[in-house]
Amino acid sequence: MFSLGIVGAGQFAGSFAKLWRLHPGVGDIVATDLLPERAARLAADYDLAGTLPSYEAMLDSDIDAVAIFTQRWTHGSLAVQALRTGKHVYSAVPMAVSEQEIAAIIEAVRETGLTYMMGETSHYNPATVYAREQVAKGAFGRLFHAEGDYIHDMDLGFYEAYQYSGGENWKATASYPPLLYPTHSIGGVLGAWQTHATSVSAIGVVDDRKDGVFDRELSQFDNDISNATALFEVADGGSFRINEFRRVGYPSHIRESRFRFFGTEGSFEQLATVSLWQDKKGVEDVTDHLHPRPTLAPDDPSLAHLAPALRDAFASGTAPVHDRSRLPHQFAHAPNGHEGSHQFLADDFVTAVTTGTLPPVNAWTAARYTLPGIVAHQSALHGGNRLEIPNFGNAPGAGRLDD
Ligand SMILES: NC(=O)c1ccc[n+]([C@@H]2O[C@H](COP(=O)([O-])OP(=O)(O)OC[C@H]3O[C@@H](n4cnc5c(N)ncnc54)[C@H](O)[C@@H]3O)[C@@H](O)[C@H]2O)c1
Repeated sequence: MFSLGIVGAGQFAGSFAKLWRLHPGVGDIVATDLLPERAARLAADYDLAGTLPSYEAMLDSDIDAVAIFTQRWTHGSLAVQALRTGKHVYSAVPMAVSEQEIAAIIEAVRETGLTYMMGETSHYNPATVYAREQVAKGAFGRLFHAEGDYIHDMDLGFYEAYQYSGGENWKATASYPPLLYPTHSIGGVLGAWQTHATSVSAIGVVDDRKDGVFDRELSQFDNDISNATALFEVADGGSFRINEFRRVGYPSHIRESRFRFFGTEGSFEQLATVSLWQDKKGVEDVTDHLHPRPTLAPDDPSLAHLAPALRDAFASGTAPVHDRSRLPHQFAHAPNGHEGSHQFLADDFVTAVTTGTLPPVNAWTAARYTLPGIVAHQSALHGGNRLEIPNFGNAPGAGRLDD
């Protein structure tokens, strides 16, 4: 059993605090936030062991592991600090926002032997779980193309979320570049297809809403791109394409991450309400098999801290395609989220820390889900120039290091 410190007690941390409180492998949990009242609230809502005044105090304490739920551009340096002070790390996505930060995390994991895990929800998206199984069975034949979309319109909850997150100056951070949040689309593709991106060409669409969001004058990231598309070449031949859209007429509360995979013998295609397996003979509708059954109503009090448009995503249970047998029984009636993925991520981290094994989304996998987007953003800023993607290799002991 290990103790855990949660840093960042905002909108997302509670979903995981709840699960780790239930998990038999986790002992005391404490929280800290730059806004102490948020840490106190989280501790009260989820019956945690207490709060600490700062992240530094958490790193100085004898806590075994930290879970990072701070704003999306802050994770890299917080993760390195924690690893260097001897703490295991669970990080919300993305891993980092620069190649240097990714390199520093991998180096710290290699040198300390501690657990690092990125909580990529698409790794357990039902479509990705299904495609992973079809890959294992050889049902696709040779995979040669895939598509991953993370399409979440700003009007569907993101204005409120950024206002809560950024306070008075929220417009400075609501302009966060879509391609620097690439893990839901890339992670869903590479969570099934065992390859990695080697080069990219990307196109960004300059925003024209003119409401101060995606305004380079106000943007902390000097960013005016709100929709972006990137085409990646992969290591063993083939390509995948991602869409990261923040201005799009689409019901993201129904399904915000969607995937398609094409192989020489079979293919899989998904839209908001339908998922299809296809081969040369016909079409099989696998929608039900991939559809998470809600375990909570969207008005359940445990979801009250979320913006209304986000509550559906957090109310989801698991889909038939998910293997619940590996989860602790304490999760049976617990909330889940993002198409059933939260419980698997929470459990992966506990298993990795307590057994000393690599989690599925370890530092090397996290780099493969994150770095291609960082390079793609650079490509989009330079007219779609095709750029090479540095390769940090596979995790040690998980296949060839330099493939
Ligand atoms: N599907 C998913 O995987 C998914 C969904 C939602 C959010 N997220 C990720 O989870 C993270 C948290 O999201 P959120 O919506 O809760 O953000 P939020 O802005 O609501 O909360 C972040 C909190 O971190 C605190 N904080 C920032 N830096 C700190 C520091 N150095 N020390 C202590 N506290 C600090 C802030 O005060 C804030 O309360 C983000 O990185 C986001 O990308 C992932």
